[in-house]
Amino acid sequence: MGQVITIANPKGGVGKTTTTINLGAGLGNLKQKVLLVDLDIKANLTIGLGIDRENIEKGIFDMLLEKANIKDVIVSFKKFDLVPNNCFHKQALSDSLYNIEELKKHLDKVKDEYDYILIDTGPVMGVLLDMALYASDSVLIPTECQYFAYDGIKIMINKINAIQGLKTKIQENLVVEGILLTKFDNRNVFAYEMAENIKDIVANKVFKTIINYSSHLQEAPSRGKDVLSLSYNSIGSREYRLLAKEILERKENK
Ligand SMILES: Nc1ncnc2c1ncn2[C@@H]1O[C@H](COP(=O)(O)OP(=O)(O)OP(=O)(O)O)[C@@H](O)[C@H]1O
Ligand SMILES: [Mg+2]
Repeated sequence: MGQVITIANPKGGVGKTTTTINLGAGLGNLKQKVLLVDLDIKANLTIGLGIDRENIEKGIFDMLLEKANIKDVIVSFKKFDLVPNNCFHKQALSDSLYNIEELKKHLDKVKDEYDYILIDTGPVMGVLLDMALYASDSVLIPTECQYFAYDGIKIMINKINAIQGLKTKIQENLVVEGILLTKFDNRNVFAYEMAENIKDIVANKVFKTIINYSSHLQEAPSRGKDVLSLSYNSIGSREYRLLAKEILERKENK
């Protein structure tokens, strides 16, 4: 049975989409079967994989609105599959029209076919995030080493606890997979200080792997590629491959 991981942080621009694509590629590189799900209405994950968001025939919103089966919306790439987001050129519905169980219902149909399902979410604390968390086993929280980072982590942990209350009723758990330090500037003394502060606060939850600031990670989506495909030996590629290994080893040691 595949593990569903939501990538989330209400703070914008911290590397959620970058992590979803490149961790997905890293896990795929380790022969894991991976499905990426683009739940952010900006569709950055979809665009970053080279798909023209204006010309998607069927996407996640057809699925959530019961107009398509999940198997009909999945697009296959070399290292992973993708449920693309087609909200950008459709009118978004208001939150009240979605049921929190909706995404889980669809993912449960394919959960057996994958080792990992990674859900990219936007910085909005609405029903789309609730749906993602309800469908998930764990949450990966990417964060920059900046002064306001702790707020994002704290808000996410409160949210996870609230959704855990609902998941208890269906005898499932939602845990923190880990806090991932991203866009780390190793020339900045303050970044080291902030990294230590974050480790002090959430001690054993911080991944050993740190994602440094990298131009390859910025360039890859403009080429419609993950960083392993753009430059396998780059630092960004190496770090996301290490993160994939860390996640896999943890699972094997459980
Ligand atoms: N390690 C990194 N080094 C350099 N740039 C990075 C790194 N990670 C992400 N970026 C860049 O930072 C910007 C924000 O990253 P990304 O889109 O992944 O964040 P996000 O959390 O998904 O944002 P949003 O909240 O808007 O969805 C992008 O331009 C991306 O290319
Ligand atoms: Mg994003």
